Amino acid sequence: MTSQGPISRRGLLRAGAALASVSLLSPMRTAWADTSGSPLRLRAAAGTAGLRSAPYGSTDIWGYDGIVPGPEIRVRQGDRIRVMAENGLDEETTIHWHGIRTPNAMDGVPHLTQAPIPVGGEFLYAFDAPDAGTFWYHPHQRSFEQVGRGLYGPLIVEEANPIRVDRDLTWMLDDWRMTEDGQLADDFGSRHDAMHGGRIGNTVTINGKIPERIAVRSGERLRLRLINAANARIFGLDFGDLEPVIVAMDGQPVAPHAPRDGIVVIGPAMRLDLVLDLTGRPDAVETVTDVFYDGLEYRLVDLAYDPDMLRASVPDWSMVLPPNPLAEPDVAAAARHRIVFNGGMMGQMMMGDAMGSMMGQMRQGNMWFINGVAATGHIMDPLLTLPLGSSQIFEMDNRTAWPHPIHLHGHSFRVIARNGQPTRHREWQDTVLMAPEERVEIAFVADNPGDWMFHCHILEHQAAGMMGVIRVDSGTTKT
Ligand code: C2O
Ligand code: CU
Repeated sequence: MTSQGPISRRGLLRAGAALASVSLLSPMRTAWADTSGSPLRLRAAAGTAGLRSAPYGSTDIWGYDGIVPGPEIRVRQGDRIRVMAENGLDEETTIHWHGIRTPNAMDGVPHLTQAPIPVGGEFLYAFDAPDAGTFWYHPHQRSFEQVGRGLYGPLIVEEANPIRVDRDLTWMLDDWRMTEDGQLADDFGSRHDAMHGGRIGNTVTINGKIPERIAVRSGERLRLRLINAANARIFGLDFGDLEPVIVAMDGQPVAPHAPRDGIVVIGPAMRLDLVLDLTGRPDAVETVTDVFYDGLEYRLVDLAYDPDMLRASVPDWSMVLPPNPLAEPDVAAAARHRIVFNGGMMGQMMMGDAMGSMMGQMRQGNMWFINGVAATGHIMDPLLTLPLGSSQIFEMDNRTAWPHPIHLHGHSFRVIARNGQPTRHREWQDTVLMAPEERVEIAFVADNPGDWMFHCHILEHQAAGMMGVIRVDSGTTKT
């Protein structure tokens, strides 16, 4: 039997009981991209993963090199990344380098930027990493199933002069819908999920494992790179007595600040870099709880302090990351475009004038709309054509009853206003979480030529139409 709803407490308690002994979070496999010699090879293939520890058996997954997450790729800012993607699946695939400002031909969007990699085929991705920060990679072909079965991995671009910390950790969060026998429920792309909040699972993992305890030391400073690889789950992490400081969002530095109400909210595809000072006493245990969905709070993981302390006080090292080379939009002179998101369960009353046409598209199975149009594949007329080098503001209006993490390829944008109020940090993002009925303004320079996807990163929403193309026009005609 499959739990269709958000995570069940019983399921988690069961998982917790099986893991009574202290298990440390196993480090991920790291691959340093070799910038001159042969490319890194990443093979998408079926595999098995021990999402649950013994005595439970392993789970069949799809993963890069057959593991979940795929290898953590690490490079230095400005390095060239070269990856030979091999398709060991039984269906076509691609790799998209989420958040990296690649040339269009390296963006990994099937049909739009490249032919999909056929079964048994390969494709060489080669591009520079202009921005330091926390990024990730995943397929863009039938993402709701390929990512949902475990095809994803972290991509870390290191600063030449990083901030000083004791440990730099990546936590790649995922949410799986598992059956009683420990396999992935195969109802990918269900209509019910698509109409509602997407495929919410019942088993949460960090770096491919249900976590139990992570060993820490009093006085230690961590840089915690959170990556949300879930199809649909939004996390709201409460670190108890600890006071996490957000220092980067979607890879881009931000003025160090405490999260609102102390809760670290991270929607699908988003990344947050936290500085976390471990201020507890030796031998103490601090629980990290996910409190995002009301009434469905659960313990994510315990931070267990060593008997020995590392230092007696919080270090006074700077948390300010060096800026990345992003073009600053001219907000006063920018062109403005209204972008309206519609659809989903309970969305009919907010459809307005275009209701008739949207209801027609809904009968054909498309449930989400951008400016009245539901995408049915990766090829479509652009929503907008923007002159290369121009400053742009998108006034985005979520006319639905659901939150949506909206992602633009090829660019980072500043989030400049929410519901008409200027944002405090004017944060750079590539995926912005919009609350139900929220209005969000983003500003950016359209400085990367090509056709770029613009879509909701709840993968079931994307598959059910919530996707469009933004063309950045270099003046030369595209065929
Ligand atoms: Cu992370 Cu269009 O994707
Ligand atoms: Cu959505």
